[in-house]
Amino acid sequence: MENSYYYSSTIKKLFFFYFSIFCFCTISFSNGRSIPDGTDIPPVRAVNLGGWLVTEGWMKPSLFESIPNQDFLDGTGLQLKSVIVGKFLCAETGGGSIIVANRTSASGWETFRLWRINETNFNLRVFGNQFVGLENTGGNRINIVAVANAPSVTETFQILRNPNDSSRVRIKASNGFFLQVKTEEVVTADYQEINGEWGDDNPSVFVLTLNGRLQGEYQLTNGYGPLIAPRIMKEHWSTYIVEEDFKFIKNNGLNAVRIPVGWWIASDPSPPKPYVGGSLQALDNAFIWAEKYGIKVIIDLHAAPGSQNGWEHSSSRDGSQEWGQTDTNIQQTVDVIDFLTARYARSPSLFAVELINEPLSPIASLQNLTKFYQLGYDAVRKHSQSAYVVLSNRLGPMEPRELFPLASGFSKSVIDVHYYNLFSDIFNTFTVQQNIDYVYNNRSRQLSELTTSNGPLIFVGEWVGEWQVSNAAKEEIQRYAEAQLQVFGRATFGWAYWSLKNVNNYWSLEWMIQNGYINL
Ligand SMILES: *[C@@H]1O[C@H](CO)[C@@H](O)[C@H](O)[C@H]1NC(C)=O
Ligand SMILES: *[C@@H]1O[C@H](CO)[C@@H](O)[C@H](O)[C@H]1NC(C)=O
Ligand SMILES: *[C@@H]1O[C@H](CO)[C@@H](O)[C@H](O)[C@H]1NC(C)=O
Ligand SMILES: *[C@@H]1O[C@H](CO)[C@@H](O)[C@H](O)[C@H]1NC(C)=O
Ligand SMILES: *[C@@H]1O[C@H](CO)[C@@H](O)[C@H](O)[C@H]1NC(C)=O
Repeated sequence: MENSYYYSSTIKKLFFFYFSIFCFCTISFSNGRSIPDGTDIPPVRAVNLGGWLVTEGWMKPSLFESIPNQDFLDGTGLQLKSVIVGKFLCAETGGGSIIVANRTSASGWETFRLWRINETNFNLRVFGNQFVGLENTGGNRINIVAVANAPSVTETFQILRNPNDSSRVRIKASNGFFLQVKTEEVVTADYQEINGEWGDDNPSVFVLTLNGRLQGEYQLTNGYGPLIAPRIMKEHWSTYIVEEDFKFIKNNGLNAVRIPVGWWIASDPSPPKPYVGGSLQALDNAFIWAEKYGIKVIIDLHAAPGSQNGWEHSSSRDGSQEWGQTDTNIQQTVDVIDFLTARYARSPSLFAVELINEPLSPIASLQNLTKFYQLGYDAVRKHSQSAYVVLSNRLGPMEPRELFPLASGFSKSVIDVHYYNLFSDIFNTFTVQQNIDYVYNNRSRQLSELTTSNGPLIFVGEWVGEWQVSNAAKEEIQRYAEAQLQVFGRATFGWAYWSLKNVNNYWSLEWMIQNGYINL
């Protein structure tokens, strides 16, 4: 797991811690069938079907294996050290100015995030979100600046790697010349190609360090491109979660699934590029199987347009978080909720709609989120009086009860909290017993502080048997999982394990059950 995105995600979360077929008709899933199990829910005992309709590379790395030039996906950070001056390229003042080569170490201003056009052509986005390009001087364009707010031809570059040493690159601009470092303060695109020259005396050669990598749905579909991505996605959707999984879920004491979906599902079968049509058909299948096995479904909008947290699991293109900053974007999200609720409202398995997953404070402001939650709630109620409406608490700086005033005006409202003994320094040194005590004491207290007799129901919508303890014994993991089952079992709406399947064993409830770590 060392190289997986999970760890870079961990670091990022850590940073923020404290603080088908297209159907013009509506498919009917109902026909009066009732849930055969007779159990009274909530509380739900659910599992997330993560990594299915919203890609997460760390959960299934093989999906990314055959992408051409796969180091260079959208959002990958490049740091480029000029061999001739021995210093890093930098967007002066973080963007909006020139590109220089006078920094001895690399951090934010020295990191260039890729936007992939295809396997050879890229845009480079700087800290302040501008794109690197050729300065428009009226005459010859050779000066390199980072001023464009949107990329065009002059912001397009080819990145060529030394075939014998992939850490050395040269960058070709749209004028046909290579970037070169003339002095630490003068970087231009006027170097003529000389074949086979990769030496330390070449002003167009840079030593490349990859810094940060996203492996979400955007990276996957754009990485394979429009010809291959449809086949890869359809294969994944039709094999990762199948009817047999619902049977397994039913037979192992679970009564619900939480299904993360991406906003593009609402424009199936032809979603905006690079997304690929077909995830709606997969969700239709999930409802058919859920009805057959008497399983409830919580639809979870995990990836909202513009990304609500900058992580790969919200399908951020390059780590930036843009959701909620305009009314258009909020309305677009409301339309997705409207679409999904309308489509499944008559299914006896539709149990809840989660309006958005893990919006991240402070960029996702409480004010704008509140506005969205009100509109999203109304959109659900337009089609369903019975579906619960789940409001995800923000991550980052926030007050755990900040959504209570809003939720108190809603009927059948639920607050979703995610409890991982991960993503924060405090857990790095925890022993087995400290982890278990933390669940029994601290988590338990956090949960009771949220639980009120007339307030919203509380949902621990994500938790896992993974922790920072290495080489733990089976019996220790069992006790840790059992502690969580006991404490989260008191959540008034219930809980959901993250996730059903994952190449990392403890993150896979299927593996945990099949190997006797968890018994429900
Ligand atoms: C890649 O994109 C560039 C710029 O749009 C284009 O000129 C080139 O033909 C593309 N190459 C491939 C292989 O599609
Ligand atoms: C790098 O060059 C720019 C442009 O001349 C200058 O403003 C800046 O102070 C220089 N920074 C360092 C660390 O030398
Ligand atoms: C790569 O290495 C081979 C064998 O040493 C050499 O013939 C070739 O010229 C090298 N190519 C480049 C681009 O350096
Ligand atoms: C909230 O939304 C308004 C537009 O409705 C926008 O002007 C503002 O920047 C947004 N605030 C944040 C923090 O995104
Ligand atoms: C957990 O709760 C105890 C009190 O029960 C407190 O002393 C401790 O600081 C808390 N641990 C963390 C990591 O917040």
